[in-house]
Amino acid sequence: MMSPSARELAIAVPFVSPDTTCAAVFDRLLAEPETRNIPVVRNGRPIGLISRKNFLLTYVRMYGAELYGRRPIAQLMENDFLTVDADTTCEGINARARDAYGDDRLRPFVVTENGRYVGVGDAMKLMLVMADLASARASALEEETRRAEAASASKTQFLASMSHELRTPLNAIIGFADLMRLKTLGEMQPPRYGEYVEDIHKSGVHLLNMINELLDMAKIESGHVELRETVFDPKDLGLDVLRMLRQAIAEAKLNLRVAVADGLPPIHADQQQIRRVLINLLSNAIKYTPAGGTVTLSVCVCEQGGMCDADGMLLTVEDTGIGIPGDKIEKVLEPFEQVENSFTRTRAGTGLGLALTKAMVEAHGGRLWLESELGKGTKAHALLPASRIVQQAPASRRAG
Ligand SMILES: Nc1ncnc2c1ncn2[C@@H]1O[C@H](COP(=O)(O)OP(=O)(O)OP(=O)(O)O)[C@@H](O)[C@H]1O
Ligand SMILES: [Mg+2]
Repeated sequence: MMSPSARELAIAVPFVSPDTTCAAVFDRLLAEPETRNIPVVRNGRPIGLISRKNFLLTYVRMYGAELYGRRPIAQLMENDFLTVDADTTCEGINARARDAYGDDRLRPFVVTENGRYVGVGDAMKLMLVMADLASARASALEEETRRAEAASASKTQFLASMSHELRTPLNAIIGFADLMRLKTLGEMQPPRYGEYVEDIHKSGVHLLNMINELLDMAKIESGHVELRETVFDPKDLGLDVLRMLRQAIAEAKLNLRVAVADGLPPIHADQQQIRRVLINLLSNAIKYTPAGGTVTLSVCVCEQGGMCDADGMLLTVEDTGIGIPGDKIEKVLEPFEQVENSFTRTRAGTGLGLALTKAMVEAHGGRLWLESELGKGTKAHALLPASRIVQQAPASRRAG
């Protein structure tokens, strides 16, 4: 935040000229209880300042003694003042003063302990303390942010180099396991070793996928994602991904629905990444939906004021699966966040899918969000901004 300048702090209090009568000033101070100071200005230049307090003290000395001298002071005191308990914090006093005095918060307050008088608090002093507090907090926060950023940068660096170190030997393991599995070098003796090799191969591939995801995550977190943008048809891509997942859907005994309108405009995006977005969301839907359920992929162009309250191309994967508890809906979008249940225990996963998906959608200037009801199902929405939609000339749209 920029610190305000004196100009912004200045209140344009109407001034008086040096020859204004004292009676007129007195009347004005009575009429304007908020005015604390009246400037005296000649030819546009300030030459003096009347302070309410000093003026009134001097002014009433002249005949105030006559009027009030013998009366009890109770007649002249103000009784709408703020009392605060001695243990109230500065923030607390500030809040109370705001409630009690509104904008006129510079009025003093009285401090009591168990209802008994302790002292008078000065609002100016309070403001100074508050300002110091605020600035101390701001620097603590800044320090914390700086430390968090440094930690995150080194974590990213660590992940990136670890992943590289692991990938090379893993590729060799997978390669050899593959050779043995395919009996390229002849039959395995004893044959039981064949099963081991299958396991080694499977675990290797799983680890490699995980490492690749970690590497992607690290790249994205360090801001090193490059979009290889092309123009493509989102429907073709969607159908292609579904073809790839057809077997998984059949094995999970799920019904598939596709709600992709004809004649969708093409989009300008990183096709590889959007493919990953769809694969990740669909894999989750397949993974977390019990047999007999339905997985739906829909793609549409949505407009502001509609269900997603934004312009763009909306990709939605809906399932009738186990759902996500309300307090986890935001959490699962973060790396390694999984909901503990029998599904996540039995189905291998790293908990990186959604974090990656979100990062990829956001790299396109888009937004990813989930709607879910426990036991009913989940909707995952990826919205690509309208700027990613390639506007077609009316003629070519008719032709397409
Ligand atoms: N469609 C869904 N229905 C129910 N729960 C879901 C769904 N999608 C995600 N989740 C929950 O969110 C968690 C995080 O999902 P995410 O895709 O990031 O990780 P994952 O699927 O566990 O592992 P992977 O890294 O292999 O994708 C999941 O573990 C699961 O608990
Ligand atoms: Mg997943």
